[in-house]
Amino acid sequence: MGSLNFLFIICFLCVFRVRIFAYFVPVDNFLIDCGGNKSLKLDDGRTFEPDLGNSYVGLSPTSNTVVSESVMGTLNLYSTARVFTETSKYTINTKQIGRHWLRLHFYPIENHRYNLKSAVFSVVANGITLLHEFSFAKLGKNPFRLLKEYVIELDGLGTKELVLALSPLNSSFSFINGIEVVSVPEDQFPSSAFPIPVGPTVGIPTHVAFETAYRINMGGPPLSPKNDTLWTIWEPDRPFLLNSASARNVSVDPSSIKYPAGVSVEIAPNWVYATAQEMADANVGDQKFNISWAFKVDHSFTYLIRLHFCDIVSEALNNLVFNVYINNQSALNSFDISSKTMELSAAYYVDFVANVSTDSERILVQVGPPNLRNLPPNAILNGLEIMKISNPSDSLDGSYRASFINSKASEKKKVMALTIVSCLVGSAVLVLATAAFCLWFHHPKKPKHKPLPWLPPPTHEGNSETKVSTTGSYASTALSLGLGRVLGFSEIREATKNFDESLVLGMGGFGKVYRGVVENGVVVAVKRGNPRSQQGLIEFRTEIEMLSKLRHRHLVSLIGYCEELNEMILVYEFMAGGPLRKHLYGSNLLPLTWKQRLEICIGAAKGLHYLHTGAAESIIHRDVKTTNILLDENLTAKVADFGLSKLGPTLDQTHVSTVVKGSFGYLDPEYFRRQQLTEKSDVYSFGVVLMEVLCARPAINPALPREQVNIAEWGMNWQKRGRLEQIIDPHLVGSMNLDSLRKFGETAEKCLAEHGIERPAMGDVLWNLEYALQLQEASTQTVADENSANYIPDIPDRIPQIEPVDGDIAEIVCDQGFDAATTSGVFSQLMNPKGR
Ligand SMILES: *[C@@H]1O[C@H](CO)[C@@H](O)[C@H](O)[C@H]1NC(C)=O
Ligand SMILES: *[C@@H]1O[C@H](CO)[C@@H](O)[C@H](O)[C@H]1NC(C)=O
Ligand SMILES: *[C@@H]1O[C@H](CO)[C@@H](O)[C@H](O)[C@H]1NC(C)=O
Ligand SMILES: *[C@@H]1O[C@H](CO)[C@@H](O)[C@H](O)[C@H]1NC(C)=O
Ligand SMILES: *[C@@H]1O[C@H](CO)[C@@H](O)[C@H](O)[C@H]1NC(C)=O
Repeated sequence: MGSLNFLFIICFLCVFRVRIFAYFVPVDNFLIDCGGNKSLKLDDGRTFEPDLGNSYVGLSPTSNTVVSESVMGTLNLYSTARVFTETSKYTINTKQIGRHWLRLHFYPIENHRYNLKSAVFSVVANGITLLHEFSFAKLGKNPFRLLKEYVIELDGLGTKELVLALSPLNSSFSFINGIEVVSVPEDQFPSSAFPIPVGPTVGIPTHVAFETAYRINMGGPPLSPKNDTLWTIWEPDRPFLLNSASARNVSVDPSSIKYPAGVSVEIAPNWVYATAQEMADANVGDQKFNISWAFKVDHSFTYLIRLHFCDIVSEALNNLVFNVYINNQSALNSFDISSKTMELSAAYYVDFVANVSTDSERILVQVGPPNLRNLPPNAILNGLEIMKISNPSDSLDGSYRASFINSKASEKKKVMALTIVSCLVGSAVLVLATAAFCLWFHHPKKPKHKPLPWLPPPTHEGNSETKVSTTGSYASTALSLGLGRVLGFSEIREATKNFDESLVLGMGGFGKVYRGVVENGVVVAVKRGNPRSQQGLIEFRTEIEMLSKLRHRHLVSLIGYCEELNEMILVYEFMAGGPLRKHLYGSNLLPLTWKQRLEICIGAAKGLHYLHTGAAESIIHRDVKTTNILLDENLTAKVADFGLSKLGPTLDQTHVSTVVKGSFGYLDPEYFRRQQLTEKSDVYSFGVVLMEVLCARPAINPALPREQVNIAEWGMNWQKRGRLEQIIDPHLVGSMNLDSLRKFGETAEKCLAEHGIERPAMGDVLWNLEYALQLQEASTQTVADENSANYIPDIPDRIPQIEPVDGDIAEIVCDQGFDAATTSGVFSQLMNPKGR
């Protein structure tokens, strides 16, 4: 046993070293040279292919012209461009869904046919407005190369296409020189961040798009795609320093930078962390000032601000403590990097979201010494990224919905006139007013084209107050970024063909679930509650409340809800694969392989781990079971159904006392006896899920002999005898690595421990499952490749640490978690003794 552990540690160490140098290889990497006629190798090592004659790029219509520069020297991406005189589309067939970098290259080549500098056009990608009536003429005198970088989510609802549309204004034309479409690593962008002013984290929905506004390497040289594994560009910070005498650049050897768990070279290359600006020596007794950087941005947008830190200046731990301000507001208070990294020269980053109000055009970032007297005053910043987040009109350039681009010119003018007026009164009003305007003018004529997803439906009795405030605050504060949309009943009725029975996907305790298609063609799952159920109303509200606070790849996301006309309707992302249980037994679906099952368990464990540790306060799901783990079309697992969820114990409590709820067969016996709820109750239920996945049978099967009825008991019985393989799903026999099974069995056993205190935390469960997966993969690898008998599997990407709120985040957080009214509301509702 001891030697096994020892061996294990050695493996872990070896592998950990390997990881650092294991660069991300994007699955999709489309590099397109528009108008080019042969492969073009750039000096950064990448090869761009022509935009015609490729199987993965479609171009329509084909009426277009190529212009090229009569270059003497070497050809480059900017030597050719394709020019369009009407709306034209590039369709790129990707291999993978999820977030992708989309980089667009523009350069107005001099030529006799077109004055490209005067071209005015708009660019839309998958419904997101990237550029609205853009023109080089507006930007300045000398033509220059323009690289625009975006991040677009391909949601894979039926397709993995990225459709890039270029629309010239009236009689103008559009052009483009190059397009890059590259997969983004899974954890590159956060699912939540701290708002400014600081409060509980806010969710960042996966469907929002980003545009890189700034990517800055403090105190360092510019970095080109050559220096970065993700081919990004980092600029030096000097031009943005408000007082360059306040800062002094420092640098260390980049190879000395360490990447602790949670940070990788994809987050930022070591060149970024190896340089910084620190406080210059002011030669004054009282060294007390801020280093300030100002960045010009567009007003009325929300920005994601990522700060990169690495203590390259201290001689010892805990010697560098400073404050960080964003827009004059405290972001990090008495921040000590080494309390996060536990070592010097280790990379660390933290994300914020900030609104830029209508009257401001800049983001101000400042670092300065705290008021503590006992430390030498200093403050540093190593890197900074500012990403613009698409607004509720799905735009990154003004408030123009993509649909406006193709509409008639007269309509466009009206909307624009309205926009100008509205700007004065803020974006919230703008969105409402635009939507109202459209409703007013277009509704009678073309009810199908009303672009009003953010407008609350005309309300009848009751809940009008909540709805209006929810919608209003969406546009006005970053805090509500994650809130689902309020949907009109008519909209939902249309989406589900008046709740057509043929569209019923399933039936839950809460009501029926329908498949629906909303206006933009997105497929959704619509859950309609039984209007008369009091319990249902509580669960409905809890679900909205919980899901509005949470965004995670492994949690089903809420798209919107409707509370109109006594209806309780929740609209979720559609999960094409359905519940996990269906894939295990009781259907004709293909049996899942062991690897698939492990990946699904890992996904679900990540979701639960995030629930327990990721948000400002831990959340207990309370109803973990195989029907609440849903799969998408790629079999990615997401945890669903938060109707019974509740906030976990606070720091001074060890548990929450509640009436026992949950599903028979999955219930933690300790919780059942003592009515005290902790995260470990979810761990128990997850243990039951693990057994179910392994044995492919229901948690409770009364038809079986007495000792086999309960899978937890039955499974534990065999596991304790070390003979779990006797009861596994016969489909797994022969393809399953025995060590992987052992690890899995041990993990399930620990989850099912009698007492909560003996059960592991979800993070440990996750780690163990990832290890089981590695064991399985290593064994198949060995079979596949005889030479790599000593192959050491890559150790899991460690447990994703979602940064908990703690003392470093400005004080407000400690006082204000969920607001008091919400919390007590949830509590009193959940204390309702009526059963589910
Ligand atoms: C390809 O483009 C280059 C420059 O744009 C031009 O000189 C050359 O003739 C073209 N070749 C073909 C085969 O069209
Ligand atoms: C660092 O500061 C020195 C002295 O002010 C300056 O010469 C040098 O260019 C700076 N380096 C960078 C990368 O900004
Ligand atoms: C970037 O890459 C180029 C070419 O490999 C190299 O010459 C240069 O030193 C690198 N710069 C940095 C800051 O890494
Ligand atoms: C921050 O404060 C300064 C000085 O009080 C003021 O000039 C500036 O407009 C403020 N900036 C922001 C973004 O609020
Ligand atoms: C640094 O900036 C913040 C916010 O703008 C301000 O409140 C603080 O007083 C400044 N600190 C110093 C020492 O000037």
